[in-house]
Order: sequence, then C-alpha cells, then structure tokens
Amino acid sequence: MWSQTEISWALAAVLLAAQDAAGQATVTSTRAIPLPTARLPDAFEVPADFPSVGFETAFLPGYNNTFSDKLVASLASRMAAPPVIRIGGTSGDKINFNPGQAEPAHCIETDKPCNSAARFILGPTYFDAFKYFFKSAHFSIQAPLGDGEPNGTNIIAYVKGAYDALGDAARINAVAIGNEVNWYHEKQYDAAEYVADAQVAKDAITSAVELGSDPIWEILDTASGHASTGNAPYTVEGVFDAGINQDGKVKYVAEHYYQFDGKTHGIRDHLLNHAALKNKLANYFPSIRATRNTDGAKFILSETGGPLGVSEEVQTFFANTLWSVNFQLYAMSRNVSRVTGVQRPEAKRSLWIPTDGLAVPGPRVQAPYYALPFVADFVGKTAAGGPRGVVNIDLESPVLSAYAMFEGQTLARVAVVNLREYAGGATRNAVKVRLENLGAAVSEVQVGRLHADAGTAAGGFDVNEKNITWAGQQWSYKVDGGEGHGTVRMTTLEVTGGVAELVIPDTEAVIVYVK
Ligand SMILES: *[C@@H]1O[C@H](CO)[C@@H](O)[C@H](O)[C@H]1NC(C)=O
Ligand SMILES: *[C@@H]1O[C@H](CO)[C@@H](O)[C@H](O)[C@H]1NC(C)=O
Ligand SMILES: *[C@@H]1O[C@H](CO)[C@@H](O)[C@H](O)[C@H]1NC(C)=O
Ligand SMILES: *[C@@H]1O[C@H](CO)[C@@H](O)[C@H](O)[C@H]1NC(C)=O
Repeated sequence: MWSQTEISWALAAVLLAAQDAAGQATVTSTRAIPLPTARLPDAFEVPADFPSVGFETAFLPGYNNTFSDKLVASLASRMAAPPVIRIGGTSGDKINFNPGQAEPAHCIETDKPCNSAARFILGPTYFDAFKYFFKSAHFSIQAPLGDGEPNGTNIIAYVKGAYDALGDAARINAVAIGNEVNWYHEKQYDAAEYVADAQVAKDAITSAVELGSDPIWEILDTASGHASTGNAPYTVEGVFDAGINQDGKVKYVAEHYYQFDGKTHGIRDHLLNHAALKNKLANYFPSIRATRNTDGAKFILSETGGPLGVSEEVQTFFANTLWSVNFQLYAMSRNVSRVTGVQRPEAKRSLWIPTDGLAVPGPRVQAPYYALPFVADFVGKTAAGGPRGVVNIDLESPVLSAYAMFEGQTLARVAVVNLREYAGGATRNAVKVRLENLGAAVSEVQVGRLHADAGTAAGGFDVNEKNITWAGQQWSYKVDGGEGHGTVRMTTLEVTGGVAELVIPDTEAVIVYVK
C-alpha cells in the first residue's frame, strides 16, 4: 500500500514537466486533496441556472446592444438552462413612468449624482432591450414597491411593460417585491408591514398580467450583511411566519452580498482570502436555513460583488475574478441556488462596460466577466449521470480552496482555487496539489486553467492588454465585439492508482474534468 502510493507520487511528478501554463512557476508547497469517493449526502443539488448577471433597473437601456447580448449568449451556450438576468436595485424602487417621454430613462436628480440611488422617469422605449436582445436569457424583474404606500399603477406599468416586451411569461423567472426593504420606514419596516405591502403589489400584478400558477415571487432582496447581523428589522423566518407565502408562490428569498467596502486596498485581506469569505457567508446561514425550512423556496444572492467602493484595480482586475470564482463555488456548496453579479454601465466593478462615452472607458470586457464561463463550466452543461451535487472540500487554508461536483453518484469535476497573490514580476510561486481517490478506473483527467500571466495586474485584453484566459479562451469587444475567441486548451494529466498531481501557479484556478 505504502510503496504503491510512493510509486504513483513519483510517476505523477514526472508528468509535471509536460504541463504548459505551470511551466514558469516554482513549486514552493504541496498539498494533498483527498476527494470524496462517493457523492456525499449533503451535496447541494445546484440548479443549472446558478450563474447570473444583473443590471441596475434604470440602466437597462445602456445594455440595449449586440455586445451585451453576445456576452450573455456566450454564457448561455455553456449552460443547461437559460441564465437569469436580474433587473433590479435601488433605482428600481424609485422609478415612475411618463408614457409620452421619448428618452428611455430620464434622471430627475438636480443635486445628486445619477447613479443607482437616483430617481428616474421611464418612457416606453425603456423596455427595448427586452424586445431586441437577450433571447438566450430569462429575467428576474422588480416590482417597484417603494418606501411608502405601494403605487399599484406604477407597479403594473413596470411589470406589464416588461411582460409585454418579452412576449412570453415563461421568460419571467421571478418578480421581486421591492429592493433592500430593510431600509424602509426608517429601518423599522417589520415583517407584517412588508407582507401587507407585498400583498398590494401581488394583487396589482395578478390583476394585470397572467404569470401562470408556478411560484414567481422573489422577496426581500435584503442589503448586504443586514439580515443575520440583526441590522434588518425582520428575519426570513419572521417574514414567513407573518404570512408572505400564504399564496404558496414565493420562489426565492434574496439577499445581497459584497465582500468588503472597497475603500481600502483589499486584495489580500478580502478578495484573495478564503477565511474572510467563510466568515462573511456564515452570517447568511440562518437565512439560508430558514429558507430551506419553507415549502420549496430557494435562497439566492441576487446582487453581489467583491468590493463595493471605488478603487479601480481592486474592482476590475483579476483578483476580483478569482474572488468571484471562489465566492460562487463556496456559495453553491452552502445551498445558495443562484449568484448574480451586479453591474451598471459606469460601475468599475462591472463584468463589462457596455458603451462608450462613460466615466469608465468602454465598450470593454472587464476581468470579473471571466468568472462566469468558469463557474458555468463547473456547474456543467449536461448532468448525464444524474443530478448535480456540489461540496466544498475543506482544506482549512485561507489561500487554497477545493470543490467537487458530482453527477449522480459519480465525481465529474474538481475545482481548485489558488488564492495566493501574484501581482506580476519576477518569480511566480505555485502549489503542487495531489488529487487522491480519483478511482482505480480513471486513467487520465483533463485540466482547464483560469490564467493570467500578469496575475492580479491583469485586467484582460480590452482593459490593459494583460490577457486573461479561461481554458485558452478570451472575451473582448475590440477583437470580435464580445463573441469570444481562442481554441479551447486543456492539459491531459495521467492518473496512477487514483492519484493525479497538478501544479497550480499562485493566483490561478483550475477545473479538473474527471469524466
Ligand atoms: C446545506 O444543506 C445541507 C444538507 O441538507 C445541510 O447539512 C447544511 O447544514 C446546509 N447548510 C446551510 C448553510 O443551509
Ligand atoms: C434598442 O436597440 C434596437 C436595435 O438596435 C433599436 O432599434 C432601438 O432604437 C434601441 N432602443 C433604444 C432606446 O436605444
Ligand atoms: C403612481 O405611479 C404613476 C406611474 O408612474 C404616476 O404617474 C403617479 O404619479 C404615481 N402616484 C403617486 C401618488 O405617486
Ligand atoms: C492577448 O490577446 C490578444 C487578443 O486575443 C492576442 O492578439 C494577443 O496575442 C494576446 N497576447 C499574448 C501575450 O498572448
């Protein structure tokens, strides 16, 4: 037994020489990753529509173009179900309508910036993006609840406008009842008041559009970190106790998640830090558990990002990509059914900048976009062997994390994220991981790498010509308007006695395809 292990270790080490991307990195540590030999009972059956993008409500017209459509279609092409685009946010609860207005969205602030917290008047062409683009996607739209008496006319104008433009109720994945309602009534908005106002909104919507009989409501959309830290005037459990699900049609309980305020340089402490992620997501467990105790509702993180603040490098570069990958994989291993990456055209943390003439140069694909194809491929386009199931393999390390994806009873994919910071320059270090228990019948595996030669200095080709590739592929406005290009590049790794060894340079993530 002992000698067999020694032999396979040696054999695998020889194979390392053949690895391309890892070639320039120096191995400074090793780590064994014992894989589960069978599907674990608590593996989360992750939905096929887990990866998702979001546009702040008032800024939807900025995405009315082929470039944005291509980036969404490219994501969709890797998924077994249409991705869901969340249209929502603070502006979505402050909008009003003017049927005679030519401009799709008109900002009415005079002494405040026209950002996501601003008030806008929408005109009929606001809904054009739903009409012309994103045929590959479904939508979560937001009923503008507002802080005060719900305005039924306003709620109907938005929901019916979207419904008519989409032309197919089946493409409405969910209707959110308000946004970050924890702020309302001067932060005293209790469960009973929310349930009463939500009923007004539900009644208005069901009187005007035929949404079908399946669950459709997305509730709360609580601000980042508020529900479980006692800073929301309600709990998820309390809202259900107060009767939010009397119609049995609550589909999603939503909360928002930002890793940190982004006011300081936070790559090591916040983004490339698995311990920080674990600590923060643990705050959401009571909400996740309360949702799982309901009759069928799912918990989602409908608005998410690494940094909330303004430091450009931290927001747009490859550290944010790797954070996003690790965040999404860890969230799915903790029973989260969807993660939506939020954006508006001028937000530096955006996945892409849709047009030119904005405060941030565009159009361009930004680094965080690359997390989407990676996560979509880890979830997988087919689950031939049975339902997917994901687990986190706890390595008890702040800089290395691993996840296993099953299809049915079979281990299908393993993702490993090396969060050690490499910011470019002289030597790049690497960890050598030893994947154990791949099974005697497995003779080789394929490896895809999420890689940037420049490490955290890489913004992607469009941003600073420091390329980012996922399994050899890239996304760029400059090259092909967002189509996606490059030949898929995988490395074959031999497996001996159920063991494969793999060098992962610092600041890189890999997917190992077992079958
Ligand atoms: C996730 O689900 C598993 C299996 O039901 C359970 O053991 C675990 O406690 C859940 N975790 C959370 C955060 O809900
Ligand atoms: C949206 O795009 C379509 C197709 O290019 C175009 O016809 C329409 O005028 C655009 N609408 C707005 C409001 O820009
Ligand atoms: C309700 O919404 C409609 C449509 O946006 C708007 O015209 C009307 O002024 C609103 N009513 C109130 C009382 O705000
Ligand atoms: C970076 O990507 C661009 C666009 O695909 C390509 O033309 C260029 O050769 C790449 N540079 C490197 C160093 O690979």
